[in-house]
Amino acid sequence: MPHAQCPTTTVKLINYKWQQLIFSLGCMLLIIACNNLYPSTNQDAKLLKVATDPTFIPFEIQTASGKLEGFDIDLMRALAQPNPGIAQVALFTVKFENLPFDGMISALQAKRVDAAISGITITAERLKTIAFSRPYFKAGLAIAVRQDNQNIKDFNSLQGKKIAVQIGSTGADFAKTIPNAKISTFNSGPEFFQDLLNGNVDAVVSDAFATLYAIKNGKLKGIKVVADLLTEEYYGIATPKDSPHLDAINKAIATLLSNGTYKQIYQKWFNAEPPELPESWK
Ligand code: ARG
Repeated sequence: MPHAQCPTTTVKLINYKWQQLIFSLGCMLLIIACNNLYPSTNQDAKLLKVATDPTFIPFEIQTASGKLEGFDIDLMRALAQPNPGIAQVALFTVKFENLPFDGMISALQAKRVDAAISGITITAERLKTIAFSRPYFKAGLAIAVRQDNQNIKDFNSLQGKKIAVQIGSTGADFAKTIPNAKISTFNSGPEFFQDLLNGNVDAVVSDAFATLYAIKNGKLKGIKVVADLLTEEYYGIATPKDSPHLDAINKAIATLLSNGTYKQIYQKWFNAEPPELPESWK
């Protein structure tokens, strides 16, 4: 009787299925219990307070309704979960905090924030007090003047001129090297460009990509760029010196570079192919 089944075998089979089910349920409960044991500590460890100065189009800007947008903002959000679908769990949750650019380094030193993303150029001077991730953007400075200016064309023609820069920026450092220049410092981009338009200064020295983007998108009328990428700079994500997050941030940047996300974000904001980035600064 090939189809007849012994009743005791059937009972055993049912028992076995129940045992399996109870065992799986037990495992699930154990996992849930473990996850809930220290819920707040877990969440705290993952919350990354990130400073940004959202006056730097198109890297960080704030919309009228208060929403943060920009290349840096997209990148930082993507870094939190570099491999969605593969790694189920986000590396951290990002909480942005607006800070003036000039106050960022001291906020990092005092560990009032865990990181800062703000088109911050990696420099030897800054590396003395804070740490940086691997470079995430290739940048450089530009000279901008009023549309009708025919005299200023390059570094040499800036000698003795009135120049506006952002306080604490690489543009400010650069301006100090121009012989006899009269330098005015401002807190943010919109302010120093306004000063240029008002005719109070002859030129602005600031980040090329930001200036060119603002001109191209009609946000800066009556201004032109005369010299571009005067310096070679790389932006990095800044952290306090002994940050426990730097390693995860660096690995996440590498992932975004290799999985195409970086390229996608770059194309969204700059409509161009991203250049090669070095793995480390200098
Ligand atoms: N790259 C320049 C620097 O690091 C200027 C950055 C300005 N960024 C900003 N969000 N305002 O000094």
